[in-house]
Amino acid sequence: MSFTLEKVVPWGRSFDEYTAMFSLSNADLDKSILGCGDGPASFNAELTRRGGHVVSADPIYNFNEDEIRSRIKKTYKEIVEQARNNKEEFVWDHISSVEELGTVRMNAMNDFLSDFTVGMNNGRYVDASLPDLPFEKGHFDIALCSHFLFLYGEQLSENFHLQSVKELCRVSPETRIFPLLELGTKKSRHLKKIIDRLEKDGFAVSIEKVSYEFQKGGNKMLRIKHT
Ligand SMILES: C[S@@+](CC[C@H](N)C(=O)[O-])C[C@H]1O[C@@H](n2cnc3c(N)ncnc32)[C@H](O)[C@@H]1O
Repeated sequence: MSFTLEKVVPWGRSFDEYTAMFSLSNADLDKSILGCGDGPASFNAELTRRGGHVVSADPIYNFNEDEIRSRIKKTYKEIVEQARNNKEEFVWDHISSVEELGTVRMNAMNDFLSDFTVGMNNGRYVDASLPDLPFEKGHFDIALCSHFLFLYGEQLSENFHLQSVKELCRVSPETRIFPLLELGTKKSRHLKKIIDRLEKDGFAVSIEKVSYEFQKGGNKMLRIKHT
């Protein structure tokens, strides 16, 4: 099935959220980073301004700035409403209200939008989809995947997860994935089996607590390294 914009609910997190979700140190931020499934997050825009080296890969980059902007406009109210209706699933700590959530996310997405066309021309945004990425083996130092793998465990199969994680590990010696919960704060149905398979295949895998928690109980990332 082809990827259409109608299927995407664009929602982008900020640079500060990425650094917290993935425990990114200053040394990490100096490395060559892949953000897979970055969508309309502002991580790429902000890290580039800070002099970092980052490429974002996402099928949403098949569309142009105006198309993505209009999709954000169409879905924004609906997503904020969903957050309001499911308020008890989130920790209202760093972000203290649904209104603030809307503002934080919209600021991040506007930052992404104003960077997108120039970043696309510079090769920082690449139209690509897991489980097949158009990068050479070991092209990056760190691959990040935020709010895609495991989160959509109901929609995406165990095999898709395994192929995708291995693909991230092919293009980078270290992969970090966050969160490890599904939508609705459910425990990931695939996590244990994926870890077992990766360990069997010789990867070093660890689950690490991070300083970020918005989805209740979603404060752990998966780190996978080549041994
Ligand atoms: C919930 S958004 C997360 C955006 C961003 N990572 C963040 O945390 O703010 C999920 C993203 O996954 C992207 N996506 C969907 N299918 C994908 C695939 N097969 N490979 C990579 N990304 C995909 C979507 O386009 C969307 O931008």
